[in-house]
Amino acid sequence: MNILVVYNVVETIEQGEEDDLLAEQESSFVEQEIAKALQQHGHRTAAVPIRDDLWGPLRQYDPNEWLIFNLCESIRNKTYLEPYIISVFDHLGFRHTGSGRGALANCLSKPRAKEVLMAHGLPTAAYQVFTPWTIQRHLEFPLFVKPASEDASIGITLNSVVHDERALRRQVRYIWDKYHQPALIEEFIEGREFNVTILGNENPRVLPLSEINFNRIADPFARIVSFRAKWVPTSPEYIGTPPTCPARVSDALKARIEDVARRAYQAMGLRDYGRVDIRVKNGAPYVLEVNPNADLSPDAGIARAARIAGMTYPDLADEICRLAARRYRMKGFARPRIVNYEIKARSVGSDGVYSIPASALLPKHARDTRLNRAPQIASVPA
Ligand SMILES: Nc1ncnc2c1ncn2[C@@H]1O[C@H](COP(=O)(O)OP(=O)(O)O)[C@@H](O)[C@H]1O
Ligand SMILES: [Mg+2]
Repeated sequence: MNILVVYNVVETIEQGEEDDLLAEQESSFVEQEIAKALQQHGHRTAAVPIRDDLWGPLRQYDPNEWLIFNLCESIRNKTYLEPYIISVFDHLGFRHTGSGRGALANCLSKPRAKEVLMAHGLPTAAYQVFTPWTIQRHLEFPLFVKPASEDASIGITLNSVVHDERALRRQVRYIWDKYHQPALIEEFIEGREFNVTILGNENPRVLPLSEINFNRIADPFARIVSFRAKWVPTSPEYIGTPPTCPARVSDALKARIEDVARRAYQAMGLRDYGRVDIRVKNGAPYVLEVNPNADLSPDAGIARAARIAGMTYPDLADEICRLAARRYRMKGFARPRIVNYEIKARSVGSDGVYSIPASALLPKHARDTRLNRAPQIASVPA
């Protein structure tokens, strides 16, 4: 099938810290990986780099012949234009992978996303939106301060955790001056942190959970994924926050996390794929945020969880196209593997919660050999 890999090219940034460029430039690297992966599955691909103009580059392709693999997280260096990009796809009649414009717009604004989550009865930390001129504070310290509309841990450092009024005001001012936006202040959720990858649409499936391993950090208030922890591999913050996938969790906690993550994914209206960030306090999961255009690079959370589930990187890229194609009822694509997995009953745990067993994501012929082999393995004496 023909797939247009559309991605944004970021050369400079206009606000924030210089290093923030690291997060913004991720998309062109991912484009090459995704294109390679799709070619391995026999798809014909074309790369469409987006700088300032979206209409011109896209008009050269026939929307009836090409499916867009969307890797655009900004245009003209503006992250807030992420939903607008989808409007242009829609306007030109293109079908595309990933979430639609409404979901992207809601997730882009952290306060709005929390409003939606709360309206659906989902647990998320109590919050307030603050500018340097906000007077009344309803929440008790310790608090967490982050930019209201950024992602990828932009604007998050150890100073984001504040214990008194002065530190809070300083951090809100920093966000206002550096990122030109209000701050979201939240109750600090002390506890374990998980990234939950979800694939699918009507019946979204949770991939193996990934936990950020904070064991090497003694101070509970330093146990956060700061910008450096996410993007600077040589930093102590990065080294101190390795992911563990699959996470070591009890069945009961796993079920609670999966349930909250799946409901959050659906509440925010995500499509095809996404990642839900969760922290657990006293055994109760809280949604930090829902990421529709989550990082698809081979070394990021989604690809890792997919790998643990038995899905190679090319399989993951292909699966995302299959899910999108199925939504649009497009011809020429195979059924998604996770839908294809007929023995549904097997994937329901004793708690009635669906999660993808490793074998579900293997190609069918590999599954068959596995099944055939099973009795032989069982007959080998221990
Ligand atoms: N309320 C909170 N309590 C504790 N830690 C938090 C809280 N909110 C965010 N964090 C930490 O900050 C990181 C980034 O926050 P998140 O809301 O996921 O924003 P981003 O979009 O930048 O990823 C999280 O991974 C977590 O470690
Ligand atoms: Mg996050």
